[in-house]
Amino acid sequence: MKSVFITRNIPEIGISMLKNRGYVVDVSQLDRPLTKQELIIALKAKPYDAVLTLLTDVVDAEVFAVATSVKIFANYAIGFNNFDVEEGKKRGIFLTNTPGGGADRVAEHTWALILALSCRIVEADLFVREGKYTGWDPMIFQGSKIAGKTLGLIGAGRIGAEVARIASRGFGMRIAYHDIVRNEKIESLHGASFWPTVEDVLKQADIVSVHVPLNESTHHLINGDHMKLMKPTAYLINTARGPVIDEKALVEALKNKVIAGAGLDVFENEPLLATGLKDLSNVVLTPHIASATEQARHDMAILSAQNIISTLEGGIPANMVYS
Ligand code: GLV
Repeated sequence: MKSVFITRNIPEIGISMLKNRGYVVDVSQLDRPLTKQELIIALKAKPYDAVLTLLTDVVDAEVFAVATSVKIFANYAIGFNNFDVEEGKKRGIFLTNTPGGGADRVAEHTWALILALSCRIVEADLFVREGKYTGWDPMIFQGSKIAGKTLGLIGAGRIGAEVARIASRGFGMRIAYHDIVRNEKIESLHGASFWPTVEDVLKQADIVSVHVPLNESTHHLINGDHMKLMKPTAYLINTARGPVIDEKALVEALKNKVIAGAGLDVFENEPLLATGLKDLSNVVLTPHIASATEQARHDMAILSAQNIISTLEGGIPANMVYS
């Protein structure tokens, strides 16, 4: 009988899809991310055919080495930087992600961060809760207007394109973007302009939003020198992966008013924050929840289970992360 290991509890639909195929499904009973050692111990304990992983599970050569019976690691995530893709490919192990699960929601969360910053929602909320609101005051919490400004996108895949659509349709923004692959659709649909370098985009944008996968070439793609190119009134938003931005340099840039603010859903060393980040009032911080809706989590469970089923039934899963 085929067996599947799931590294943390996921919505029931995914588990029942696997059980309905007659697979034995073991779900980790620890309601927290597994350490690499714990994952290795679990994989040594039983010759699993498939593993459903979360973005917190490091799946590298050491893990592949003990997972000799495993045909697929199916990530329950859009991102897959937790996989050593080259190593998995070399060993012929299928690696998948859930690209459709929650991408539109990540774009919405990106906009929530942008609006929270520009309308100073978090600071103002605290002000009211602390009983400091004593009456209308023309001088308090002046934010910044978004309409008509320039959105700079670093990465214009599925999520970046949806952020661009909202910017163009909702706020009449100009859109400047950079990506390693040109997205002509957002050019024709939303008037986005392609720029050949990250620097080109940073210099002109009022809001810079990052939507690239994390890999060697995007690690610290935005560093301290890049921040100095940005407008002092600009906001930097990250709903992609923390290490794409040098977080220590960002704290310095925010302290020294090199840029005006940042909205972060992801952090360089999750769940830790760079020293000083949480003490700044010009940042809005959320705990890696950009895709957190019931619908998205449900869709991700279906997609990841489907990738496992396709593999174990002898097919090629729909969401391979390598070709
Ligand atoms: C969340 O960050 C994801 O990659 O799905």
